[in-house]
Amino acid sequence: MVFIKYILPALAASQLAFASSDCGDTTIENQSDASGISSCSTIDGDITIKSTYSGSLDLGSIEKIEGTLSCNGGSNVTGITAASLESISGNFTLKGLTTLTTLSFAKLSSVGAIDWEVLPGVNSLDFTTGITEVGDVNIIDTHLTSLDGITLKKVGQLDITENSYLKSCNISNLEYATGQINFQGNYDNLEIDLPNLTNGTSMTFRNISSINIPKLKSLTGQLGFWNTDFDVLYAPDLTETGDVVFTGNTKLTNVSLPALKTVDGGISISRNDKLQEIDLPKLSTVSGAIDLTGNFYELKFGALTRVDGAFNVESSNGTFSCSDLKSEYKSDVRGSWTCKTNDSNPTTSNGKSGTESGSSSSGGSSGSTSSSVAMANGVAAPVAGVAALFYALAQLV
Ligand SMILES: *[C@@H]1O[C@H](CO)[C@@H](O)[C@H](O)[C@H]1NC(C)=O
Ligand SMILES: *[C@@H]1O[C@H](CO)[C@@H](O)[C@H](O)[C@H]1NC(C)=O
Ligand SMILES: *[C@@H]1O[C@H](CO)[C@@H](O)[C@H](O)[C@H]1NC(C)=O
Ligand SMILES: *[C@@H]1O[C@H](CO)[C@@H](O)[C@H](O)[C@H]1NC(C)=O
Ligand SMILES: *[C@@H]1O[C@H](CO)[C@@H](O)[C@H](O)[C@H]1NC(C)=O
Ligand SMILES: *[C@@H]1O[C@H](CO)[C@@H](O)[C@H](O)[C@H]1NC(C)=O
Ligand SMILES: *[C@@H]1O[C@H](CO)[C@@H](O)[C@H](O)[C@H]1NC(C)=O
Ligand SMILES: *[C@@H]1O[C@H](CO)[C@@H](O)[C@H](O)[C@H]1NC(C)=O
Ligand SMILES: *[C@@H]1O[C@H](CO)[C@@H](O)[C@H](O)[C@H]1NC(C)=O
Ligand SMILES: *[C@@H]1O[C@H](CO)[C@@H](O)[C@H](O)[C@H]1NC(C)=O
Repeated sequence: MVFIKYILPALAASQLAFASSDCGDTTIENQSDASGISSCSTIDGDITIKSTYSGSLDLGSIEKIEGTLSCNGGSNVTGITAASLESISGNFTLKGLTTLTTLSFAKLSSVGAIDWEVLPGVNSLDFTTGITEVGDVNIIDTHLTSLDGITLKKVGQLDITENSYLKSCNISNLEYATGQINFQGNYDNLEIDLPNLTNGTSMTFRNISSINIPKLKSLTGQLGFWNTDFDVLYAPDLTETGDVVFTGNTKLTNVSLPALKTVDGGISISRNDKLQEIDLPKLSTVSGAIDLTGNFYELKFGALTRVDGAFNVESSNGTFSCSDLKSEYKSDVRGSWTCKTNDSNPTTSNGKSGTESGSSSSGGSSGSTSSSVAMANGVAAPVAGVAALFYALAQLV
C-alpha cells in the first residue's frame, strides 16, 4: 500500500482515502503510536503529539508531512527526532515543551511556519541541511544561542523575542521579508548580521549590540531601534522606508543613512545622549514629521523638498547651527517649524525630554519610550499589529 502510494503519488481520492487511514492525521500518545506511522513516507495530514507524551520521540522514516507537526504543553517530551523528514507543509508548532532538549531534523528544509514558544531546554538545533523555505518564523523564549540551521532566502514574519541566550543571529542568505522583522528582549549583546537583506516591511530592534544591513534598500514600514548598544547605524543603500525611530540608544554616536530619500512616515530621534552626527544628505520627502532632539552638533540634510508634518529640531549642543537650516528648508515644511541650539532642555514634539539626562520638569518623563512621530503629529500611524502592541508595551515601561 505504501509502495503503491509512492509510485503513484497523484492517484486520486480512493487511494488517498485508503492511505490516510494509516498515514493520515495522527495523534501520538506514545512511541508505539509513532511506530505505527514510521513506515509512511508521507503523512497526509497532521501529526499531533499529545501533551502527556513522555520521553523522546522518533518519527522514523517519514519524509513529508502534508499538514502540521505540533505539540502543546508536552512538558515531558525530551526529544524529537525525524531523520528522514524533508518537509512540513503546515505549521511546526511547539509550545511549552519545558524539558525538550533535542530537536534533530537532519534533512528538514521546508516548513509552512515555525512557531516555537517556551522551550527552555533547547539551546541548539540539529538541522544539518538547514531550513531554506519557510513562511513565518516565531521563536520566543528558548535558550537557543544562535539560529544556525535556519538559512532562509526569504521569510514572512520573523519574530525573535526573549531568547535570553541568543548571542548571534546570522541569516546570511536572507534577501527579503514579506512580514515584520522584530527582535526584542534577547541576550543583551545580540549581534545581528543580515548581509544579503534588500527589502522588507518593518524592522524593529530592541536590546541588540550590533546590526549589519549593508544591502538594505527599501522598507514599506518602520525602521526602529530602542535601547541598543551600538555606536553607529550605517545603512548605505537604504533609499526608502516608513517611520524611522531611534530612542534611548545610549552608545549611539552616529546615524548614517546616506542614500535615504523618501520617508513614508516620520523621523523620530530622541534620548540618544552620545549622538553627535545625523547624516541624511539625500533626504527629500517625509510624509510625517521630523522630530530630532539630543546633543548632536552635526545634522546633514541634503535635499529636503517636502515635509508634511512638523519640523522640530532641538539640540543642547551650541555647536549645532540652526541658521543654515532655516532659510533653506522652512518653506518645504507644512507643519510648524522649531529649531533650537544650545538648548538646555531639548523637548520632542509631544513634550517629552529629548535626552536621558534632560533636566526636564515640564512633563519630560525620561522613563518613557513613546516615540511615534506620526502619532505625535496626528498623521495616521503606519504601525500596525505586532508593532502597535510593542508600542503599547514600550509605553508602559
Ligand atoms: C499507546 O497509546 C495508544 C492510544 O493512542 C494506546 O491504545 C496504547 O495502548 C498505548 N501503548 C502503550 C504501550 O502504552
Ligand atoms: C509529566 O510527568 C509528571 C511526572 O510523571 C506528571 O506528574 C505530569 O502530569 C506530566 N506532565 C504532563 C503534561 O503529562
Ligand atoms: C500557523 O502559523 C501562523 C504564523 O505563526 C499563524 O498565523 C497561523 O494562525 C498558524 N496556523 C494554525 C492553523 O495554527
Ligand atoms: C555571517 O555568516 C557569513 C557567511 O557564513 C560570514 O561571512 C560572516 O562573517 C558571519 N557574520 C558573523 C557576525 O558571524
Ligand atoms: C549572499 O548570498 C549569496 C547567495 O546566496 C551568498 O553566496 C553570499 O555568501 C551571501 N553574502 C554574504 C555576505 O553572506
Ligand atoms: C532591554 O533594555 C532595557 C533598557 O535598557 C532594559 O531595561 C531591559 O532590561 C533590557 N532587556 C533585556 C532582556 O536585556
Ligand atoms: C525584494 O527582494 C526580492 C529579492 O531580491 C525581489 O524579488 C522583490 O521584488 C523585492 N521586493 C520589493 C518590494 O522590492
Ligand atoms: C558616521 O558614520 C559614517 C558611516 O560609517 C562615516 O562615514 C562618518 O564619518 C561617521 N561620522 C562620524 C562623526 O564619526
Ligand atoms: C558640542 O559638540 C562639540 C563638537 O563640535 C563638542 O566638542 C562639545 O563637547 C559638545 N558640547 C556638549 C555640551 O556636549
Ligand atoms: C550656550 O549657552 C550658554 C549659557 O546658557 C552660554 O554661556 C554659551 O555661550 C552658549 N553657547 C553658544 C555657542 O551659544
